[in-house]
Amino acid sequence: MASTHQPSRVRLHHLMQAKAERRPITMLTAYDALTAPIFEAAGVDMLLVGDSIGNVMLGHDSTLTVSLDDMERAVGAVARSTKRPLIVADLPFGTYETGPFQAFESATRLMRAGAHAVKLEGGAERIPAVEMLVDGGIPVMGHLGYTPQSEHALGGPRLQGRGEQGEKLWADALALQEAGAFALVLEMVPAQLAKEVTRAVRIPTIGIGAGPRCDGQVLVWSDMAGMTEWTPSFVRRFAELGAALEGAASEYVAAVRDGSFPGPDNYRVQ
Ligand code: KIV
Repeated sequence: MASTHQPSRVRLHHLMQAKAERRPITMLTAYDALTAPIFEAAGVDMLLVGDSIGNVMLGHDSTLTVSLDDMERAVGAVARSTKRPLIVADLPFGTYETGPFQAFESATRLMRAGAHAVKLEGGAERIPAVEMLVDGGIPVMGHLGYTPQSEHALGGPRLQGRGEQGEKLWADALALQEAGAFALVLEMVPAQLAKEVTRAVRIPTIGIGAGPRCDGQVLVWSDMAGMTEWTPSFVRRFAELGAALEGAASEYVAAVRDGSFPGPDNYRVQ
């Protein structure tokens, strides 16, 4: 969302403006007070406190075990350490699916922790929850296509939206927009479908594995920074931070062992 004037806080209307002016919107995940201000300094428009925290930070092999407590702590850290980006927090699995009241109670906790909006997965079946959140003043981002909280029902991470599935995704996108969602994540859907849905809705679409024609892009930060050996094919590795960090740690270990650290610059005798 590069523009000559950077707002002091990214608001929903700035995202709508970016879509209207075809300025790509940028979003990265963030889970802590160490990395969030770095992404803010890089100019990212939105920070997603994603339930990918389960895989990325907490050592789980899916998002399904992430709790509201996990999310509250992470949202608080990101909110305390940044000023400008819009902070979107994922409603974790099991905290909104039974209906609008459950969704509202869960979302309230994330908003009190410092989020500016929440994201939830699913389409038509989520409309009552989305409406209640929006009526209650909580901005909602939808999430369609591959929805990791349904990974077992979907048969694992795979492209969604081919054939009839594509028609459902269209209908879901329109229904979420009408229910008041301010934006939609489109994950792992064919680029052509993402392009058409992006044209058809007034609200911004944010793609991940959905091609170049969405209104913005989101990536899990540790993927784009090369923190792990493997990354999905839709990710570009913009750095090799994992290798750089391992290199730094190895040098530290060697320096302690060979006695070169601490050196004269690192301590005073008196
Ligand atoms: O939790 C997350 O990181 C997400 C992105 C994959 C969009 O939902």
